[in-house]
Amino acid sequence: MTNPSKTKSHDASNGSYRLSEPSITPPNLPGTVHAVESVDRAIDILAADLVIHAENCVRQFGDFHIALSGGSTPQPLYERLMYDPNYRRLPWRRTHLWIVDERCVPPDDPQSNWRMIKETIVDHADIPAEQVHPMPALAPDGDVQYEKSLRDVLGWREKGQDRLDFVLLGMGGDAHTASLFPGTPALNETNRLVVFNVSPVAAPHKRITMTFPLLNAARFIAVLVAGKSKASAIHQIAQGNVAPEHAPITGIKPFNGELHWYLDADACSQPATNS
Ligand code: 6PG
Repeated sequence: MTNPSKTKSHDASNGSYRLSEPSITPPNLPGTVHAVESVDRAIDILAADLVIHAENCVRQFGDFHIALSGGSTPQPLYERLMYDPNYRRLPWRRTHLWIVDERCVPPDDPQSNWRMIKETIVDHADIPAEQVHPMPALAPDGDVQYEKSLRDVLGWREKGQDRLDFVLLGMGGDAHTASLFPGTPALNETNRLVVFNVSPVAAPHKRITMTFPLLNAARFIAVLVAGKSKASAIHQIAQGNVAPEHAPITGIKPFNGELHWYLDADACSQPATNS
């Protein structure tokens, strides 16, 4: 694995760290920002962080709870976890796999996040079936059912440790994350862990999603963002003063955990202006 030299900086005003390759100006985002040339390299760094974190959790708690997103960006990460010998040691047998959000389509639908995660990970990892938790997206009370499963399973942990260990998020060009879209009711949820929501633009419109209270309780939140189509949103968020109502990703503020961004050069580039 290559390890190109990185520039490091620490912004004491918001406690954030930026680790970037010299050719890239990392955006001023909260938390730790890993800004690197290629999405491949970003995936490498993320996968290495994930394996270390998973091993630490298994050592400390005996198991590891991860929640994965859908969309297209993380697919190469999921494949890498399966074929790259550097990451094969992820302790799948001790892992509980949860889904961050789901489109309300049948589980074998091409647009189902579960289908993609099953085909890339579950079918190839030695993860026990009872530790895999697809969202019951077609059940009318699927949100209530999923919240109950989370509470029941995480309830085995000691109080205070009963939270997700690792959440992988993506971000849309409109700065949505999970299925938390700008201007939608799910953004205001302060109590429930899982709710149905409607995507105003992206189809399929009906979604089920983890909420801010659940996501922000996680021990480690990784946000993987790549491509020029995300540059404008990243730029806007880095300027500050954008409310979650307009840019839901800014509602991701772990209470007692770490927030890490993994960005490629395109996502960090200056957005094109219309003038
Ligand atoms: C989904 C998501 C969603 C995704 C972003 C980014 O089901 O669509 O989980 O939040 O992470 O839309 O998607 P891309 O990676 O495809 O750009």
